[in-house]
Amino acid sequence: MPAIIAHGGAGRYSPGEEHERGLKDAVAAGWEVLDSGGSALDAIEAAIVVLEDFPVFQAGFGSAMNIKGEIQTDASIMLGDLSCGAVAALTAAANPIKAARLVMEKTDHVLIVGDGADHLAQSYGLESRDLRSDARKEMYDRMLAKLRAGEEVAWYLPRLREVAADMSMGTVGAVAVDSEGRIASGTSTGGPMLKLPGRVGDAAVIGAGTYANENGGVSATGVGEPIIKHALAKKAVDLIADQGAREGIETLMEYARIKKVRFGIVAVEENEAIALGYTTEAMSWVSMKDGELKTFLSTGIGVRKDDGDDGTAKDDSSGKVLET
Ligand code: GLY
Repeated sequence: MPAIIAHGGAGRYSPGEEHERGLKDAVAAGWEVLDSGGSALDAIEAAIVVLEDFPVFQAGFGSAMNIKGEIQTDASIMLGDLSCGAVAALTAAANPIKAARLVMEKTDHVLIVGDGADHLAQSYGLESRDLRSDARKEMYDRMLAKLRAGEEVAWYLPRLREVAADMSMGTVGAVAVDSEGRIASGTSTGGPMLKLPGRVGDAAVIGAGTYANENGGVSATGVGEPIIKHALAKKAVDLIADQGAREGIETLMEYARIKKVRFGIVAVEENEAIALGYTTEAMSWVSMKDGELKTFLSTGIGVRKDDGDDGTAKDDSSGKVLET
């Protein structure tokens, strides 16, 4: 039996009706593929494209901008047979997840960045688009004004701390297993607002934001730097192989809590078990399995005053684990 889960990011935001609608549309698109015997790869691509096109999510259209006001998106995709592809610092492709898939299917490489990624996307005729939404431009102007006024701006960057509650809206991703037992996972993001030009986050790094093998697949979300340092996606899949989805993610959350990493992750095991966990205030996801649709929108929101400079939390995070 196939299964799919899509997430709209973990962080400090308040998921609402728009998030729910986008996630349900995404899972419906993925489920349509799975239900008609299609592959997990096509299913997660279909789901992530919906999320990228939905401006409320911070990926594709609606991506955050770097400190120069430029778009630089990251995305990655991976299959249970270890095929994978990723792009980073892509500037114009409407759907970065499709560019990541091009890297996997059309090149000998795993990760292509910057001009090379733009060129690849254009060469294969991927749609280009100005990904800056009005809402994101307004957010950029507000944060830049704070920065220029010498105020602390964003908790996830050392000089840019303590900001409004809506600054961390996360990455999107999806993981699925199809009727033939094939696993696929993918992740896409605009990265954090006001990041430095050229910064690449976990969503482009196989083993950090995305991983899959024969045991399971995961997509992670949160501040990219600690996710990369702890190689959390690979760690998650290794734990799932040893302990199963629920216990593996529980162990991972305990590790993240001890290491004070603020992030979220969704996972699908090869036996179709779905699990997820998060140490942030908020996380949103929708899953579909055994014909049953499940929706979760964390109500948590709040500005923490005690974040570490590198995106880690100084106090205990919730470490919530949910199984579906
Ligand atoms: N997880 C998204 C990023 O930090 O880029």
